Amino acid sequence: MTETPLVVFDAYGTLLDVHSAVARHAPAIGPDAARLSEVWRAKQLEYSWVHALMGRYCPFWTLTERALDHALARHPAVDKGLRARLLDAYRDLDAYPEVAATLDALRAAGRRAAILSNGDAAMLARAVDAAGIGARLDAVLSVEPAGTFKTAPAAYALVTERFGVAPGAVRFVSSNRWDVAGAAAFGFQAIWVNRAGLADEYPDFPPVSVIATLDALA
Ligand code: LAC
Repeated sequence: MTETPLVVFDAYGTLLDVHSAVARHAPAIGPDAARLSEVWRAKQLEYSWVHALMGRYCPFWTLTERALDHALARHPAVDKGLRARLLDAYRDLDAYPEVAATLDALRAAGRRAAILSNGDAAMLARAVDAAGIGARLDAVLSVEPAGTFKTAPAAYALVTERFGVAPGAVRFVSSNRWDVAGAAAFGFQAIWVNRAGLADEYPDFPPVSVIATLDALA
């Protein structure tokens, strides 16, 4: 793997465990908890891609709320009174356990670290604060100024514009295989964090490496 000074992370699913919101309230949700969380995440992402293709940007937080409403509608046995608590939990998601130490190790090794996320600036600021990683990052970039979502090239270009580097100088880390594809297509060195051992996809846009957890970066 080529050494580069800049490491950029996806946020949701990569640094932050998107299923930790439902997990916190799993006993109250009942047997549909895992399926509710999967539908919530899948619809949140689908909405982002559909809005991007329509050219109609909408803050990711709004899409997150709408996706939860759809997931609750699909699982009528789940108490809709949990909506507010689930959204509160999503505002303050858990970071994966190795995140802080990995960021510290990267910075100790002289690398810069940043986030590029589909999250809007407000939700990202709160999430980074809740996870206690703000001081460990050189930049937290939301796609908001691009008015679209990853995998649009304009979203990834926010990184090269902000840091004044060529795409090939950026090491981009994501657990989301679709995001790895978009980053590779843009010219980043894309690293796939395949925590769940998922089958590979997007054969035309492969990662430069695959790791199981973020520790492997340090
Ligand atoms: C992110 C989500 C969509 O960009 O994974 O942070």
